[in-house]
Amino acid sequence: MAAPAVLLTGGAGYIGSHTAVALADAGYCPVLLDNFCNADRRVVGRLHELLGSDGFAWHDGDAREARTLCALLRRYRIAAVIHFAALKAVGESVAQPLRYFENNGNCLVALLQALAAEGGGSPAPLVYSSSATVYGDPDRVPIPESAPLRPTNPYAWTKVLGEQLVLAQRAAQTAWRAVILRYFNPVGAHPSGRIGEDPQGIPNNLMPFVQQVAVGRRAHLTVFGSDWPTPDGTGVRDYLHVMDLAEGHVRAVDYLRAGGVSDIVNLGTGRGHSVLQLLGAFGSVCGRELAYRIGPRRAGDIAVCYADPSRARSVLGWEARRDLRQMCEDAWRWQRSNPNGYSDA
Ligand code: NAD
Ligand code: UD1
Repeated sequence: MAAPAVLLTGGAGYIGSHTAVALADAGYCPVLLDNFCNADRRVVGRLHELLGSDGFAWHDGDAREARTLCALLRRYRIAAVIHFAALKAVGESVAQPLRYFENNGNCLVALLQALAAEGGGSPAPLVYSSSATVYGDPDRVPIPESAPLRPTNPYAWTKVLGEQLVLAQRAAQTAWRAVILRYFNPVGAHPSGRIGEDPQGIPNNLMPFVQQVAVGRRAHLTVFGSDWPTPDGTGVRDYLHVMDLAEGHVRAVDYLRAGGVSDIVNLGTGRGHSVLQLLGAFGSVCGRELAYRIGPRRAGDIAVCYADPSRARSVLGWEARRDLRQMCEDAWRWQRSNPNGYSDA
């Protein structure tokens, strides 16, 4: 019997490419749709190496086009969809809000239209990529799914509105089901070192910046504030191995295909690490101390953020298995063997 096909919008991106590998490992056929606005085409060659040419399919196209989505749903008899396609840089969303609302909003609208048009009585179920950013500055940690939503920038608003749209469509179309996943801070890479995170320009996020310091592309890390109310004064986050996150998506697809009801689930480890802890762990993996300077706080930052992951365990039977050291080891293997990311392919 042919492997059930799962459509991954934004499938050539950081999380999508790792999820494609996890899905293939679990016996699915990932079908990737991406317009490569924030991905390098060379990732496709790397996936060929890892999965073989029969192990997945990919299409260069825009997820804002319902016609494209309808054609893929039909052609591959898609059993479930994971919707990754979005723009995700907070600072850029502040400078270009229209671009963010247009792209992130229209991708999801087109997808829901295509699912309704092609699904007949039972449209394919959906896994929607949301983010811990929807919680803003939380009242308390660990953060449960019931915490209030307080988006603080246009990107975060696109995620909150996306969740609302999914919930409204679920209410309107009772036969349809969706799981909303709120990710904490995905880091690391596939253990092969063949795929990983490859941000364009100067990295906004901590781990890719640290990786570039380690490989000599940047002189030092600037730590954004050492006066936060945390044990060492630097910000604390719930770093999560991208392969754990990818496996969380496989569990969500399994759950929906087994008839599971719609839900909203945090994906995180439930543990927080500070900037200096992450820097120290990475230094011990790459065998030298990494240079850093203390700078001012970054606008919009918060002190501490980590998940209450208990719902992921009870609903999806998922929990993160990989620790901070493994996140750093896998990130370092990827960066060391691809100092310039996919440009080295
Ligand atoms: P990414 O930028 O690496 O991947 C997103 C992919 O979507 C890219 O390959 C991009 O080219 C593609 N894309 C964007 N607009 C498109 C369009 N109109 N048509 C087709 N393709 C399009 O980002 P990622 O880190 O892999 O994130 C995946 C999803 O997870 C996003 O929805 C993001 O908001 C969410 N998320 C990411 C993080 C994180 O820290 N990486 C945290 C929480 C949530
Ligand atoms: C960022 C996004 C958030 C998104 C999340 C996961 C912002 C304001 N928020 O959050 O919307 O959901 O990524 O992708 O961009 N740090 C440094 N120096 C650096 C970079 C980061 O000290 O050069 C610190 C930060 O202050 C923070 C920690 O490292 O304490 C993690 O930062 P980052 O990786 O950007 O993630 P978030 O702040 O959680």
